[in-house]
Amino acid sequence: MDIFEAIKKRRSVRDYLEKEIDDKIINIILEAAREAPSASNRQEWRFVIVRDKITKDKLCEAAKNQTFMKKASAIIACCAQTDNHVMTCGQACYPIDVAIAIDHMSLAAVELGLGTCWIGAFYEDKVKKILGIPENIRVVELLVLGFPRNKPTHPKNRLPFEKIVFFDKWGNSK
Ligand SMILES: Cc1cc2nc3c(=O)[nH]c(=O)nc-3n(C[C@H](O)[C@H](O)[C@H](O)COP(=O)(O)O)c2cc1C
Repeated sequence: MDIFEAIKKRRSVRDYLEKEIDDKIINIILEAAREAPSASNRQEWRFVIVRDKITKDKLCEAAKNQTFMKKASAIIACCAQTDNHVMTCGQACYPIDVAIAIDHMSLAAVELGLGTCWIGAFYEDKVKKILGIPENIRVVELLVLGFPRNKPTHPKNRLPFEKIVFFDKWGNSK
């Protein structure tokens, strides 16, 4: 599959088969994260892979009971060990860098026939407690990973090109 096909195919998957996932597969996905770019190559990302059923259930509770999380093969807590560096542009590096790594993982998952869903609706303090994550580490997102039960049928809902792309000056559409 080429990269454009993977981008087109990727959807948020919220219905999973209850199946175990191989270490090998997890490693391929994490290797895709490790290859991601980051500001000044800081590589502040850290990942906690959760496959244990009881821990997944607890993470689901910390994520406002998004119950589909329980059936996923793994939940990856995508963290940052960060010095909170802010770039000249005024943006903090770590959420951007961790997000790029997550996107690499979600596209690698498509190639492997797996599904993912980003989870931003979670309580960081609860997740840290469940996973024993130290105070100074941030949990940026959770990434749910598993075997999709169905092929997605609904079309992707995206803004039209003209609404989001301008040429030479803000507001100029072609
Ligand atoms: C930063 C971020 C946080 C998200 N948090 C959640 C979440 O907590 N629960 C959920 O079901 N989906 C979550 N999503 C998935 C979005 O709802 C989804 O990407 C969007 O609706 C577009 O659909 P698609 O991924 O199928 O293309 C999140 C996505 C991103 C990028």
